[in-house]
Amino acid sequence: MGVDVRGRSFLTLLDYSPEEIRYLLDLAKEFKRMKHAGTLHEYLRGKQVVLLFEKTSTRTRCAFEVAARDLGMGVTFLDPGSSQMGKKDSLADTAKVLGRMFDGIEYRGFAQKTVEDLAKYSGVPVWNGLTDDFHPTQMLADIMTCEEEFGDMRGRKLTFFGDARNNVANSLMVVCSKLGINFCACGPKELMPADELVEKCREAAKASGAEIILTDDIRKGAQDADVLYTDIWLSMGEPAELWESRIKLLRPYQVNAELMKMAKLSAIFLHCLPSFHDRETTIGEEIYQKFGLEAMEVTNDVFLGPQARQFDEAENRMHTIKAVMYATLK
Ligand code: CP
Ligand code: NVA
Repeated sequence: MGVDVRGRSFLTLLDYSPEEIRYLLDLAKEFKRMKHAGTLHEYLRGKQVVLLFEKTSTRTRCAFEVAARDLGMGVTFLDPGSSQMGKKDSLADTAKVLGRMFDGIEYRGFAQKTVEDLAKYSGVPVWNGLTDDFHPTQMLADIMTCEEEFGDMRGRKLTFFGDARNNVANSLMVVCSKLGINFCACGPKELMPADELVEKCREAAKASGAEIILTDDIRKGAQDADVLYTDIWLSMGEPAELWESRIKLLRPYQVNAELMKMAKLSAIFLHCLPSFHDRETTIGEEIYQKFGLEAMEVTNDVFLGPQARQFDEAENRMHTIKAVMYATLK
């Protein structure tokens, strides 16, 4: 029997099998081919989705909106200021109301429990557009980008440098462990993924043949790496007072030309974005004024260099999110 994920939510990826993830990736590649060829694919005409954002976004919001419209669906966007959610309507009541009007719900916000509860009470597929703990739709775009570069990723090594217990790093560990990709979390001991999640991923890795490495040694992280991945050092929702201590902890894990040289010659650089690679943002400039750093998690030469693939990765957010919505709603 073929893979069928109709009616399912997409919350952590932990409950998706390697075959189901493979199916979503293949579907995304097909959607990308159609989009580039200009072939219409309004397969879900008549359906409606709602996007709930309690944190800001460029890529995820635009990816969901464009993908939904390409599929022929109607889209409603709600930000924290413009709904009753949590203020006058409980989360459960909000979920029940939205479930009566929409065929699917995207949520970006803080607690993982919120997105889980939306799924529990709404009765329709709910897609996690990022919580404090996980960013599962990002993962499909990341792996798709790696496969566009290398083909089969099994047995290759992806290393995440930096805040290795943030939502992106957690989700990378999950997806790599399921797909047989060796995953290395490279960061300070204080910022390693939670033991419970590492255990779950090690279980999945047993079946897929993946290796999971946790290290604070950048040489070990970079050695033989095919993919060097990083993310901002302070995630949305974390207080700005933490910048100073985070910079101290993470400065040695900056992805720069020297670090890139320690990896395979053919290695690529990925970043989920947004990124502080120069002083062209208000926060980037503030950090420069306060701490004298021209760049944080990645230097500008790497970001603009020949190994960088982050804009392919950003485009792939749209194709992969389209695959998730289509597969769960069709
Ligand atoms: N990578 C990502 O999720 O970007 P946005 O915050 O812009 O959605
Ligand atoms: N870890 C980052 C990811 C942004 C896409 C954050 O949560 O802000």
